[in-house]
Amino acid sequence: MKIERIQLQQHGDSRGMLIALEQDRNVPFQIRRVYYLFSTKCDVHRGMHAHRNLIQLAVPVRGQVTFLLDDGEGPCEVVLDDPSQGLLLRRMVWREMYNFSEDCVLMVLADQLYDPADYITDYAAFLRDVHVNGNGYQGDIAACLGL
Ligand code: TYD
Repeated sequence: MKIERIQLQQHGDSRGMLIALEQDRNVPFQIRRVYYLFSTKCDVHRGMHAHRNLIQLAVPVRGQVTFLLDDGEGPCEVVLDDPSQGLLLRRMVWREMYNFSEDCVLMVLADQLYDPADYITDYAAFLRDVHVNGNGYQGDIAACLGL
């Protein structure tokens, strides 16, 4: 599947670095929720779900984490270790996260409030939704940012 990274402009000077995240500028959706993962145990596997209708941007503010992404056509691994690179997580993409470094702080921006009903937590059901029900990702977000 196509991996969509967003390069975030760094504002650096002798004092250090700053990155701003702005709705509809470098974040291609309405930001309605922000959450972050930290103090994650290094042997932990998180995620293991897809969202029916949610767009997210994951930014490794500190440290490193590996994502497995699958749009139904097979898994793809992505290492996130650069706070100036965000990873776009589209709807109907199965995601898993592992290999968290001890210091990892993973920030996630989302276009919807938390809704447990939006989760697909069964991989076989996810594949059925994509391949049998035709509910796979249709390419909406890339157009929105010109990616
Ligand atoms: P969970 O979905 O298990 O996290 P992950 O998919 O990263 O492994 O979420 C852990 C807990 O946090 C669970 O009780 C639901 C809660 N939660 C919220 O209350 N709001 C949120 O925005 C998120 C993402 C989770």
